[in-house]
Amino acid sequence: MNIGILISGRGSNLEAILKANKEGKIKSNIKVVISNKEHARGLKIANDYGVKAVYINPSDFSDREEFDKRLIQELEKYSVDLVVLAGYMRILSDVFIEKFEGRLLNIHPSLIPAFQGLKPQKKAVEYGVMYSGCTVHFVTKELDNGPIIIQAVVPVLPDDTEDTLEKRILKYEHRIYPQAIKWFEDGRISLNGRKVYVKDAVYGTLPTNPKLEDF
Ligand code: GAR
Repeated sequence: MNIGILISGRGSNLEAILKANKEGKIKSNIKVVISNKEHARGLKIANDYGVKAVYINPSDFSDREEFDKRLIQELEKYSVDLVVLAGYMRILSDVFIEKFEGRLLNIHPSLIPAFQGLKPQKKAVEYGVMYSGCTVHFVTKELDNGPIIIQAVVPVLPDDTEDTLEKRILKYEHRIYPQAIKWFEDGRISLNGRKVYVKDAVYGTLPTNPKLEDF
């Protein structure tokens, strides 16, 4: 299977995925990493792992759809079967989502459907919830709200800041995202409306559900 990864910044999830790939836990070919930000640290990480890193400048395009068509063109060059959003902070147009629907994944640092959109860790701290976490889900036209593959839950502590909560959640992001990709490449994920089922996974566990197997 060929994978394309879209990023906008730091690239720590990208790095976790590339590391899992290097270690042979994820077996697919990660063909290309594309950023909409020129100085995204993730582009350097891709280079360090010997993966093609491409920057596409949104201001070269008249609108979102034109930019996304260019993205599609780049991903098609590599016959990408799965598109992974790893901290990609730009809203995708319908044209893009329709093209890759069912093979387009995202990670979001909250327990969806809570705290969708920007700054979910800050919103969780301010709201005073006792638990938050992260979610890997299929991308649909509704922002941060597609069918859920796996979630990890972490406690929120009384003196947490956005920053401390972000760090606690991120540790689990780096485990659940490679795991979900591995399940996808192994053909174990099936989708029935909003419901996702991972074949032979162990359900009913904490802090992740389903249970992590390889990460
Ligand atoms: C991650 O926390 C990811 O879950 C979040 O951006 C961060 C990117 O970090 N994504 C979203 O909020 C998407 N709505 P990274 O570049 O170090 O992987």
